[in-house]
Amino acid sequence: PESETAPEVRLDVDGDVAVVTIDRPRALNALSGDVLEALDAAFVQITDAAASVRGVLLVGEGGRAFVAGADISAMQGRGPEEGERMARLGHRVAERIEACPAPVIACVDGFALGGGLELALACDLIYATDASAFGQPEVRLGLIPGFGGTVRLPRVVGPARARELIYTGRRIDTEEAVRAGLVARRFPDRDALLAGARETIALIAQNSPVAVADAKHVLVAAAGRPTGEAVELEIDGFMHSFGTDDMREGVTAFLEKRTPGFSRG
Ligand code: HXC
Repeated sequence: PESETAPEVRLDVDGDVAVVTIDRPRALNALSGDVLEALDAAFVQITDAAASVRGVLLVGEGGRAFVAGADISAMQGRGPEEGERMARLGHRVAERIEACPAPVIACVDGFALGGGLELALACDLIYATDASAFGQPEVRLGLIPGFGGTVRLPRVVGPARARELIYTGRRIDTEEAVRAGLVARRFPDRDALLAGARETIALIAQNSPVAVADAKHVLVAAAGRPTGEAVELEIDGFMHSFGTDDMREGVTAFLEKRTPGFSRG
């Protein structure tokens, strides 16, 4: 029984960085329906404020887990209809993250398992501390991944590694996750992780917000499409950025050998 008044998901906007914190540490930040709805609302709010936010950090509170998966306690005795509801809700959150024009960095410090790994895979980048562990343990529960693991994991680590992880349910450490291409950068501890993620957002914030958003849009839309279709999406995105005020400024600043002053979004 839940008897909480404090919100389990917090959104803090600090200058051009938004921090979304999943704060349910006593269940290792497991994704209950309430947590997923709150994540959905947080990303809608960030997308509405897109002009000022240049990057988002998604973090888990408590120091033991990013997210240990979907909430297993809500699964007992349930049938396929509840399964569909849960899966669709998780996919809605993933789509919101992908629709957010600013890049989102999953900052993993601890367990990123099942729906937790899938949530991280919906982000643009995964950064992690050395004390982290990644896996899709669903088959151990008699389930399959339901928040995109069969779709996004093979794109990121390749089909063979994804099959091995999904069929065995085994956990890998940060070092192996870096080698697999799942984790973009590793850090010794949480402070270094958060500082590193903020540095990356500061680099992103030097660039045109329109161009970064267009690039994200094409990367998301083209993922998994046949080459011809993906190329057409890139051409559309390239045309969209071509001739914008930001392009004029970026190209002119280069030719005048000065720092560009891009739009605020
Ligand atoms: C609900 C969870 C939970 C989860 C942990 N907890 N994971 N509650 N859902 N996914 C709770 C535990 O029940 C426990 O509560 C508390 O968090 C601390 O966890 P412990 O197990 O005591 O900690 P530890 O022994 O250190 O083990 C950590 C762990 C283990 C290895 C991460 O908790 C674990 O295996 N968790 C489940 C991981 C998993 O299978 N995830 C995939 C879920 S399915 P109490 O009250 O006892 O203190 C999924 C499907 C996605 O994600 C798609 C759905 C559509």
